[in-house]
Amino acid sequence: MYWRVLPVVALAAPTHALIRMGCSQLVVQRLDPLVTPGQVPSPHVHQIIGGNSLNATMHPSNHDIPKMSTCTTCQAADDFSNYWTAVLYFKAQNGTYKRVNQKGNAGFEGQKGGMTVYYMQNQLADYEQKTQVTAFKPGFRMFVGDLNARTLEEAKPYRQLTYTCLQDMSTRYPETKYLPNKPCPAGIMVNVRFPTCWDGVNLDSPNHMDHVSYPANGTFESQGPCPTSHPVKIPQLMFEVIFDTAPFNNKADWPTDGTQPFMWSFGDTTGYGTHGDYVFGWKDDSLQKIMNEPCYVNCKSMKTQTIDQMNSCTVEQTAKEDMDSWVKEIPGQAMTEE
Ligand SMILES: *[C@@H]1O[C@H](CO)[C@@H](O)[C@H](O)[C@H]1NC(C)=O
Ligand SMILES: *[C@@H]1O[C@H](CO)[C@@H](O)[C@H](O)[C@H]1NC(C)=O
Ligand SMILES: *[C@@H]1O[C@H](CO)[C@@H](O)[C@H](O)[C@H]1NC(C)=O
Repeated sequence: MYWRVLPVVALAAPTHALIRMGCSQLVVQRLDPLVTPGQVPSPHVHQIIGGNSLNATMHPSNHDIPKMSTCTTCQAADDFSNYWTAVLYFKAQNGTYKRVNQKGNAGFEGQKGGMTVYYMQNQLADYEQKTQVTAFKPGFRMFVGDLNARTLEEAKPYRQLTYTCLQDMSTRYPETKYLPNKPCPAGIMVNVRFPTCWDGVNLDSPNHMDHVSYPANGTFESQGPCPTSHPVKIPQLMFEVIFDTAPFNNKADWPTDGTQPFMWSFGDTTGYGTHGDYVFGWKDDSLQKIMNEPCYVNCKSMKTQTIDQMNSCTVEQTAKEDMDSWVKEIPGQAMTEE
């Protein structure tokens, strides 16, 4: 597999694993089993990847994700987790909207929509991956971000939620907290990094965030220690979601007042409200086994499937809505448009 930052000189071998995998689209729809379980349709549109046992409730008490799934859109064949984010819409000068598709990362060019998912023990560019982490337990789920944030100040608690304006598929810097204000030739990459410390007890919490925490001081990247309230180091889960904005990059179609034309499906044009959702569903202890292996991206203990197999796993929309045409209103947003 092609990997952009292959080490030129391997200074030391990894002692633990870093996973990077493509995951195709499972479905694009208004469904949110984590934040608004049972509500069909949910308030805003999501792009969802992972196992096909996805449904509106999927409560851990009666929903065994790996047992109930028969396929997954992720490269790791044992990963039936579900992962999702909101989606971007382009607003044309005539006031109509079009959903922006996602595309696969370098190395996953044939992938249909979706995103790239990482599980890391140390930061991405660290080929040694030395830190030991505890994999998530069955029933674990979490959320990160604040969909009501519209200023840098409000988005500050989530400093690891960023955007990269892709000049080409290998651009990784700079990252901004706001949506790029210029056309991005290869797309807009949304980076979602989850907290890396867990209280060790609760699989979820009322706001889906209090059971996890950022390091007590320093950062994940600086290997800051976990706080005593959340002492268990968990892998850093990270999404890279590449929105294929290239078809909308004609400056003549952009607003004449200098603003940018993309809007999140929950009505945010600033970008500060970006957020991500995770419902764990790896089979048995397959994630822990991979995390314990010394490997960087190419991990022998990770059972993989082909891009064709990833693409062939889909589910029907629970609430049937047109996600592909030009629309007068973003689904669910009639009252909240800014
Ligand atoms: C989701 O699946 C579970 C387990 O089969 C089932 O009990 C539940 O009713 C389903 N929820 C919905 C909303 O379909
Ligand atoms: C609005 O503009 C878009 C982009 O130019 C175009 O594709 C679409 O057909 C237009 N819709 C209407 C209703 O004029
Ligand atoms: C965090 O605090 C510990 C103990 O107070 C200290 O030893 C360590 O250097 C600090 N780490 C960072 C990254 O600031």
